[in-house]
Amino acid sequence: MPLNIIIGTQWGDEGKGRITDLLAEQVNVVARYSGGDNAGHTLTIQGEIFKLHLIPSGIIHPGVLCLIGTGVVINPKVLLHEMEGLRQRGIDVSPARLKICANAHLITPAHIALDKANELGRGREAIGTTLRGIGPAYTDKANRSGLRAGLLAEPEALAEAIYAHIEEKNRLLERIYEQPGLDAAAAAAEYAAYAQQLAPYLTNGPILLDEALQQGQTILAEGAQGTLLDINHGTYPFVTSSSPTSSGALVGLGVGPRVVGQVLGVAKAFTSRVGSGPFPSELEGDEAVRLRGTGSNPWDEYGTTTGRPRRVGWLDLVILNHAQRINGLTELALTKLDILSGLEQIPVCVGYELDGESIHYFPTDLQQLARCRPIYQILPGWSEDVTHARTLDDLPENAQQYINFISTQTGLPIRLVSVGPNRSQVINFSEP
Ligand code: GDP
Ligand code: IMO
Ligand code: MG
Repeated sequence: MPLNIIIGTQWGDEGKGRITDLLAEQVNVVARYSGGDNAGHTLTIQGEIFKLHLIPSGIIHPGVLCLIGTGVVINPKVLLHEMEGLRQRGIDVSPARLKICANAHLITPAHIALDKANELGRGREAIGTTLRGIGPAYTDKANRSGLRAGLLAEPEALAEAIYAHIEEKNRLLERIYEQPGLDAAAAAAEYAAYAQQLAPYLTNGPILLDEALQQGQTILAEGAQGTLLDINHGTYPFVTSSSPTSSGALVGLGVGPRVVGQVLGVAKAFTSRVGSGPFPSELEGDEAVRLRGTGSNPWDEYGTTTGRPRRVGWLDLVILNHAQRINGLTELALTKLDILSGLEQIPVCVGYELDGESIHYFPTDLQQLARCRPIYQILPGWSEDVTHARTLDDLPENAQQYINFISTQTGLPIRLVSVGPNRSQVINFSEP
């Protein structure tokens, strides 16, 4: 089918970027549809590491057009910095390769200041946001007071809008949050300079995608964040402010459901989470360090965007089944299988005990979720290094059993299994 969607099934950082990069080779367009530079997508290509926050993970493939879709919130400063970093590494980021949807919204320094002030105000109840201004930018969008990327093509209107926006936010910052205000004139000048550089990238996203589809081209929608960070279906309020689910992809790009083919859920072979909120299969102490790593490897569990240590725990199939339901997943990609090598036994959460009863669904009530205790099924581990496996047969039997167990318990075929961060370190079941 012409449009396939990549979705994070857990709390983000499942390895969506590297899977997007892998599948981008076969498509014409890769499009981001939600979130902003709260996302951090890591690609490792022949040992070279690329960390992308806003630019779609198809950019490394020269023939692929990359679109930053309607549903994304864009910090122009971060985008330009990211573009420059790629340019210096020989990647073409000209308007022939990269497009920005004019209906996407802009993040401003005031959004970032408000994100920080909000978090400070929450005290012990802080969400643990990435402090990138994401929540306040989506708040303005919903309030119909946001600034859209299309303004970048109208310098005078942009300067006026930024000036008025900063003045208005200053009233909030100073009077409600007791924080210093920002220099509105300086922000207007700053954004005028960004506009000059970014205006040539603007496009009408829905028309671009429609024309691509009519020409028989294929599109890959690259998810950011994960299902449990979805504003509707995640662990509210410990979520982001957008819809990183498959329905969010349709809204965030401006396409209808009939063009969708596969919905590929990316799942880490264990679970990780950055920020606050309940996490039933979370581990502490040495067991956590075993899964997280100590930070000595680039793939250890430290945030790509914030550098924060990620909370980690065993794989949770209740979560994967929740993600399956919400997104209509058609298949799974399992990442970081290599990290489990060397464990004698691998517990997998197959249900929760809630107030003395066993349940197999993901509670929507956060207080209930906080009381859930994981019910584990213990699977046998394997000692072999799996980083060189390229077919199922290359994997030890117990690793095969682990994969089969996930497939059976979710009812989903496993299409890809990654066994290391490099582009080539993958078992692709859809290839003969
Ligand atoms: P994303 O946000 O979903 O794109 O994921 P991130 O890039 O934030 O986090 C995934 C991390 O795991 C990155 O450091 C990747 O390089 C790394 N990674 C992805 N797949 C594998 C794998 O199969 N094995 C190992 N060891 N690391 C992986
Ligand atoms: P990728 O695309 C992991 C989390 C933050 C915080 C919550 C709200 O790399 O998987 P926000 O700044 O969005 O208001 O923060 O959401 N969060 C992520 N966690 N991976 C991400 O993106 C995330 N994007 C947001 O840590 O808990
Ligand atoms: Mg990430």
